[in-house]
Amino acid sequence: MRSTFPGSEHALRVTGGAQLAGSICVSGSKNAALPEMAAALLTKEAVVLSNVPQVTDTSLMGQILAGLGGRVEGEGTMTLQMGGAGKTDVSDELGRRMRATIVLLGALLGRFGHARVPRPGGDDIGARRIEQHLRGLRQMGAHITETQNEIVGEVERLRGQRIVFDLPTVTGTENILLAAVLAEGRTEIFNAAREPHVQDLCLLLAKMGARVEGIGTERLVVDGVRELGGAEHTVIADYLEAGTYAIAAAAVGGELRIECTRPEDLHVVLLKLEQAGAHVEVAEGSFRVGRQARTRLKPIDMSTWTFPGFPTDLQAQYMALMTQADGESVISEYVHENRFQHVRELAKMGAGITVQGRIHAVVHGPCRLRGTDVSIPDIRSGAALVIAAMCAEGESLLRNSWHVERGYQDMAGKLASAGAKIESVKVDPQATTAGHSYE
Ligand code: EPU
Repeated sequence: MRSTFPGSEHALRVTGGAQLAGSICVSGSKNAALPEMAAALLTKEAVVLSNVPQVTDTSLMGQILAGLGGRVEGEGTMTLQMGGAGKTDVSDELGRRMRATIVLLGALLGRFGHARVPRPGGDDIGARRIEQHLRGLRQMGAHITETQNEIVGEVERLRGQRIVFDLPTVTGTENILLAAVLAEGRTEIFNAAREPHVQDLCLLLAKMGARVEGIGTERLVVDGVRELGGAEHTVIADYLEAGTYAIAAAAVGGELRIECTRPEDLHVVLLKLEQAGAHVEVAEGSFRVGRQARTRLKPIDMSTWTFPGFPTDLQAQYMALMTQADGESVISEYVHENRFQHVRELAKMGAGITVQGRIHAVVHGPCRLRGTDVSIPDIRSGAALVIAAMCAEGESLLRNSWHVERGYQDMAGKLASAGAKIESVKVDPQATTAGHSYE
């Protein structure tokens, strides 16, 4: 028997062939807003975050924080008052829906010396291991027990330590940062993640009174303080959303101006788009990406890497682009070990892609894509399928669009305003197939 899922009655209907024109304003970063909301736990005063993307994941984090006894008000501008929070036990029902809940572990241990979080469930994009988070917190003095369902931590007061990551983990770095700011003494994180959202979390913590140095480098130094205060902070623009629309414009052609963004976070992505034959023009806080219909796309190999490399969260979208290139390209995924779920759905639309092992995929462009009924397996695959559907002949129905809504604020509305033929529609959830994973 097929099961239904909350939100699975929504789909995106896309008719291919329209070029993009005009401008799109990028929202705040989901992957910055989530740990920043968790940071509000570290103070009794109010933290006011503006430019919070209005997506399912931020609203879920708001519900989780309210469940811990805090007050969370507003949407785009959110006031988090966690002075009254006292609960340290994260709801299983809400917590399991999103892997980012893991950052509550460091924040709760830092403020209360106790935390219980549900173990994030396995999902389709890889093992999503967390042993480096736990090793770091244990080094800082936390007693951590793990079962299949939960992780429980206990500590009198965390102590600063020298923590070495064997590979830069984004939420691992955030977790140790959230734990270290109220710890006793100095914490050094070596091989820290440097993604824009990690940098933005550091900036918020510094505004709250934390002593953090090395922001944007692979060595972060945190000198713990006794107390943190409130702060006001604007969440950094989402470079993954900007990158998604940039790739879309290169794929379908036209001329799109992407605003409210930071082109400096996308150097490698914009370079790849130029190499592939798109025209890119960068300005302060915005950029343009365009391609004339007669300019054919070139096949350009790409490997994902941690920041400032090509982001894994744009790999699927880039693969959709390469289906339109004149020749074969190799796409290598080095960050997550199993991130090719979009291949199966792209193949249903007519893409010729061969996956070789866990790391490489060969795209045999140019592929003539046809409008098809497909099921979105995760957020970024959803963005890739939207791009592929915009390049396809005829109409596509992309089911399970709730995945896209977890990370993109009003993707359909923004793309439609730039000329795409895309709308959100209701469908029969019983006809919706697999793909209920949480990142
Ligand atoms: N890893 C380990 N051990 C650890 C931690 C990570 O082996 O202790 C491995 C993972 O298994 C993975 C790689 O290291 O293969 C990178 O994992 P990382 O910890 O950096 O990923 P994450 O923190 O779980 C965040 C984003 C993801 C994004 C990755 C990589 C958030 C909430 N999530 O996940 O975003 O793909 O970093 O940049 O920030 C998305 O937005 O669509 C998304 C999946």
